[in-house]
Amino acid sequence: MVTMTSTTPAPSLPADHPLVTGLTTEAPLLNQYRGGRDAAGNPAAPARQPVWFMRQAGRSLPEYRKLREGTTMLDSCLNPEMASEITLQPVRRHDVDAAIFFSDIVIPLRLAGVDVEIKPGVGPVLGSPVRTLEDVRALPELDEAAFAPIVEAVELTTSGLKDMAAEADRDWVTPLIGFAGAPFTLAAYMVEGKPSKEHLAVRTMMKANTETWNELAAWAARASGAFMRAQVMAGASAAQLFDSWAGSLSRADYLEYVAPFSQAALSHVADLGVPVIHFGTGTSQILDVMRAVVEFARIAPQEPVESGPSVLQAMGEALAAKEEGRTAHDPASLTTYPVLGVDYRMNLREAADQLGAGTNGRRTPLQGNIDPAMLFADAETLHQHVQAVLADGASAGGHVVNLGHGVPPETNPEVLTRVVEQIHSVETHPGQD
Ligand code: CP3
Repeated sequence: MVTMTSTTPAPSLPADHPLVTGLTTEAPLLNQYRGGRDAAGNPAAPARQPVWFMRQAGRSLPEYRKLREGTTMLDSCLNPEMASEITLQPVRRHDVDAAIFFSDIVIPLRLAGVDVEIKPGVGPVLGSPVRTLEDVRALPELDEAAFAPIVEAVELTTSGLKDMAAEADRDWVTPLIGFAGAPFTLAAYMVEGKPSKEHLAVRTMMKANTETWNELAAWAARASGAFMRAQVMAGASAAQLFDSWAGSLSRADYLEYVAPFSQAALSHVADLGVPVIHFGTGTSQILDVMRAVVEFARIAPQEPVESGPSVLQAMGEALAAKEEGRTAHDPASLTTYPVLGVDYRMNLREAADQLGAGTNGRRTPLQGNIDPAMLFADAETLHQHVQAVLADGASAGGHVVNLGHGVPPETNPEVLTRVVEQIHSVETHPGQD
């Protein structure tokens, strides 16, 4: 069995990074992403059960709506003071255990010069959809210097989080999570040109124009990977890859057309030693592959990326090696902390059992999965639901509570604060050895 206890920060992180200085390493969030372990790799109970909410920054908060008045969504993301303040608002109000960087999956498109807007109440809309090989080849390459407002916003945020910890007299600083859209979800918006339910155009392109798909997905992998790396290098302590629409694919299509590109996107951060959370909705048919994408990100080539069975091969090799009692890959070449985000359609216990042990020989930490609909239920129903999520999450190798998808804009923020209090009041345990 492969055991990985070393948690020495990767040398590629800057010396003042919160994971290197140790400001965030013992935060409850990172304890659970490491499977209930301290930074040295020893089983340790977290100071409290960690919780954060996807879309915690946003329209459910009156302070957000006030600040956003008169500024478009993407302009507010590119204004470092505003993006940083919006990121901090939910941490201040709810005392959640992570700040999720206020930005959007289409920000790398905007920074590359693609004509994209976020229409209120609709979502990302492109001036002209990307449909042909010529369209793909005309996409501008992202220049790293374009990330300057992102880097500045992350720096302001981590410094704000440090101040908040000092004010609260806490010995850990709330970690910032950086994120990006996975190539498939990003490409779905680019090909459709707007939000869609069925993702027909992008799924047609994959099979009918595979060359076009390969080039587009490779472009999206570079854009997403660079966006995530910029956030982590600037101070984020974890990275989440959102493949929100991956659940609309069959297992075979995900393996062939999507997994290699998500793996390539993650290879941009795989050397940094940060936990990587992989999230999608309706993903019960591909959960193990989504974990393999993270586990094997480090062995994926960033360039050139070609559609192919790399993840499948790696999984097959790992399985054969496990059966023969040997190690398929140098553990140091694998991503140390894979975490899976599970939506409300799948019970966490079932997800944990279905996944079993990962390449590191341990059960995988899970993040999720309060049903957002329960935020509108009476207090007792919500309380019981949260208790059930906690009980099911205890069967995973680490549990960070979250919603099964984003906070609905109509949510009463006081309900979220109450949920956080409930979760923080439960007893915590060290991870299993
Ligand atoms: O609090 C957070 O979670 C951090 C910020 C964040 C936003 N978008 C801000 C946002 C994150 C992590 C995202 C990711 C994102 N963006 C995803 C993946 C996550 C998911 O929800 O599945 C996707 C698919 C997008 C694309 C996108 N951007 C959509 C579908 C929408 C919703 C459109 C609408 O108005 O309902 C957006 C806009 C958006 N992104 C808002 C916010 C706060 C709402 C904009 C507003 O306030 O007007």
